[in-house]
Amino acid sequence: MKEISRDSLSESLQRDLVLVEEALSTSYCPHSGLCVAAGLILDSGELITGVNYESASYGLTQCAERNAISRAQAENKVEQVQGLLLSACYQNNDHDSPPLTPCGACRQWLSELSDRIGRDFVVYSFWKSGRNGLTGSARELLPQAFL
Ligand code: THU
Repeated sequence: MKEISRDSLSESLQRDLVLVEEALSTSYCPHSGLCVAAGLILDSGELITGVNYESASYGLTQCAERNAISRAQAENKVEQVQGLLLSACYQNNDHDSPPLTPCGACRQWLSELSDRIGRDFVVYSFWKSGRNGLTGSARELLPQAFL
């Protein structure tokens, strides 16, 4: 992924990023303390958000990206996905970190989604309120994906 500034995003992307940042408050992350929110941008302009949901059996944790994709599937809207926004912050807000890059499992889901809908789509990631983020595409994130 390469660096991108928040200011260089279109106004509508900046508005969507604020909505994704607001969704961070609904993350359920009692074990890691890392809140993550994902927002799928649809062709219609609609935003479908998801947040991470942790389990006491740590490996059963669900990431924000996969929860957003499942929600889009339940609403029968995956064909309309044209972008993904990610945001993260610590629950106690005590310090900043570099923008999150999707985990391997989410990269697999994103690659499969891109293959399924027949188009690559852009991914942006910003730390909450951060000025600089990262951007790439679903397919770039997992070269030589198993599909
Ligand atoms: N997490 C995500 O939601 N997405 C990712 O791509 C990386 C990790 C979540 C899972 C867990 O709740 C927390 O971040 C710490 O790993």
